[in-house]
Amino acid sequence: MPRLSTLLLAWYKANKRSLPWRDHPDPYAVWVSEIMCQQTRVETVIPYFEIWMKQFPTVKALASASERDILNAWEGLGYYSRARNLYKAAKVVVEKFGGKLPRNLDDLKSLPGIGRYTVGAIASLAFKMDEATLDGNIRRVFSRLFDAEEYADSPAGEKILWELAAKNLPEGRAGDYNQALMDLGAMVCLPKNPRCLLCPLMTLCKARENGTQELRPVMKPKKQIPTYIHAAAVIVERGRVLLSQRPRDGLLGGMWEFPNVRVVGDPGKELVKALKRATRIQVERGEGLGQVSHAYSHFKVIAHPFLCMKVEVPKNKNLKWVKLKDLEEYPMGKVDRQIAKKL
Ligand code: ADE
Repeated sequence: MPRLSTLLLAWYKANKRSLPWRDHPDPYAVWVSEIMCQQTRVETVIPYFEIWMKQFPTVKALASASERDILNAWEGLGYYSRARNLYKAAKVVVEKFGGKLPRNLDDLKSLPGIGRYTVGAIASLAFKMDEATLDGNIRRVFSRLFDAEEYADSPAGEKILWELAAKNLPEGRAGDYNQALMDLGAMVCLPKNPRCLLCPLMTLCKARENGTQELRPVMKPKKQIPTYIHAAAVIVERGRVLLSQRPRDGLLGGMWEFPNVRVVGDPGKELVKALKRATRIQVERGEGLGQVSHAYSHFKVIAHPFLCMKVEVPKNKNLKWVKLKDLEEYPMGKVDRQIAKKL
């Protein structure tokens, strides 16, 4: 075996993290964990994974659950299209592949939410195939090992890194190799202040030799993200509050929120008029409930909720009066859950 993978696998044997999906024989568990771990830290994922596997223990159980149960179980992990795609894909796996994840790589890739990274992870971890993968941690490790100067988030840079990951893969050990790289990235080859003195690959690392660790990976300059101000109406009547369900497609699709509207000026002054214009909901505004904010990937929202009295609410399938004690059963994004917690 080449030196890189020998050193890496020896380090992994002694230092690997104990994770609930590790050495799990079930490809479904590997799949769920890999989708959850995209864009979310492993420590955050662990309790969600454990609850999920109890609630939806098989592909079939997932495929026959309700969308609301799925979004509820996912609430707090963010990037909800992952949950919706997992659900869609589970239905396809049941209908087309008899409830078993397909081993064929093209079939795997045809499933909603499964891209090149997830194919590599499932193939190597669940099916023991000699496939490389490249997540954020692995990308950083190889960018440093080979002191790659290309933008690591450009097609050209990614191509180089995928090739390096594949070229150094030890035959028959891809699952351990991929997870060792993920663990090395998460525990040693950290984005800031990498622990080079503890690294099993220190002697092979070109970035360390050149003193460029902190400059790798090179990423494209980030655009500034905009901040949007929203005014939200918390309309309470006889122990119930009005919720609105977001459209199925798009950000937080299918999740519930307090009727709200984006404003440019003073949220307290604009709420009544702007809400009526946007939703035909008419209210009288009461006291403010402070403000809550959340940063999404492409923008930040600062929401100003106000207690409101109903004047007129149109008949609309997306609107529902919900008992205050039942609010938890309605999946919500971070902003609206913070508002719900104030009630
Ligand atoms: N991140 C995503 N999948 C992982 C895995 N299997 N091991 C460690 N970190 C991960």
